[in-house]
Amino acid sequence: MFLLVFSYVLGSITRPGIWYSTTVASPRGISALIHTFVWMWATEWVVFVIEVVGVYMLVYLVGRVDCQTHTRIALVFGLASYTTMLIIVGILSSMMWPGKAEWATTGGVLNAFYGGNTFAQLGMRAPFMFAITAVVDGIVTARFEDAQLKRDIARKLSVLGIVATLAGAAMLQWYLATLPESAGVVLENRLPEHFPLAMAVAVGAALVYFLVRYMQPRALVSSVAAAMTVVILVAGLWPEEVARESLRKPWVAGQYVYSNQVVGADVPSVGVRSEIPTIEAHGFLKTHIFVPEKLRTIDDGNRVEAGRLLALTTCANCHSLTATGMHPLQRYFGPGHSERDVAEYLQAALAGGNTLYMPQIPLNDDQARALAAWILSTMSGQGAAQAAAQPTIRTE
Ligand code: HEC
Repeated sequence: MFLLVFSYVLGSITRPGIWYSTTVASPRGISALIHTFVWMWATEWVVFVIEVVGVYMLVYLVGRVDCQTHTRIALVFGLASYTTMLIIVGILSSMMWPGKAEWATTGGVLNAFYGGNTFAQLGMRAPFMFAITAVVDGIVTARFEDAQLKRDIARKLSVLGIVATLAGAAMLQWYLATLPESAGVVLENRLPEHFPLAMAVAVGAALVYFLVRYMQPRALVSSVAAAMTVVILVAGLWPEEVARESLRKPWVAGQYVYSNQVVGADVPSVGVRSEIPTIEAHGFLKTHIFVPEKLRTIDDGNRVEAGRLLALTTCANCHSLTATGMHPLQRYFGPGHSERDVAEYLQAALAGGNTLYMPQIPLNDDQARALAAWILSTMSGQGAAQAAAQPTIRTE
């Protein structure tokens, strides 16, 4: 019942929210995945139905079928779960590296699916999932009344946990070796410093916990198991998920859709062409579809507002536009800079795409100046309020 409620009922409630928010945050990333992997998702759906039916059968057929049948149902359920993981891992890894190199020219869903990164990620994820199983199951095992059974299960889970944690940590090294160069840069320089430490603490704490539990199975109580589950989720799973999402930057999908929804590379096999040359030739404001007509051409009256729109559409995926939050833009520029300094800096940093962690964002002189004007206006405080409140700012 715990498994059913924890994984499936809560999962069913959060999943539509996840799909909704990712589609809003990254429509082109989702679109790229759906166009490449629609049949993989259809397959996953079929397997997932087996999994969901399986978990209900497991819970509601206890005592109504013989033990052997129940074990068989558990096996089918487990295999179905594993298969959904395999499919999702293939899709996730293609977001980092789109499968085999020939996919870009020849296409083919399997070429997109089986990349250098797929099995490394599967190899890492499977043991970590077993380790999490061993931790979470402690909550259930702790409540067994039969002391002998409790000791047996607690010991078995501890062994599973130790083996799985060590195997997962080893596989993590393999996984890291399969990442693109940009991921290495993000990993080394751009992630919060406490992340590697948090992961190390989670792995270390899990090992100590499993060892203690192995030696003192009777000491296993629900509250400690629950606390340990929280530690694993907060110190292990959360940094891992954030790291995986960050490592992919500046891309959101397949090394061709940038995080800011600009297509940044050609993929002939799916008929996708880089938008960078068009943006270089005509500027972002003229080519982006969601720009209000009055901002397509910059003049003295709308410069700050156009700058804000540029920041919103091209930078806000990774930079907070206010003083707080994730990498706020204004933090990079101290007081006393002129609009021109900032504009030149932005062009140098962004136009060529030579930072590995940011997309190539071509800014012509007008747009760089507008963006600079907006960034400077946010530092005085009132400029931002004005830009937000007034559709057009009058020239003095
Ligand atoms: C894909 C994510 C992403 C996008 C989109 C993005 N940046 Fe960045 N940017 C980063 C990261 C990551 C850093 C490094 C963060 C840090 O060290 O504080 C960074 C750093 C910077 C810096 C500091 C100097 C440097 O070169 O490291 C500036 C300035 C900057 N970004 C401006 C912008 C502007 C302006 C835009 C929009 C036109 C933009 N960025 C879009 C991810 C992004």
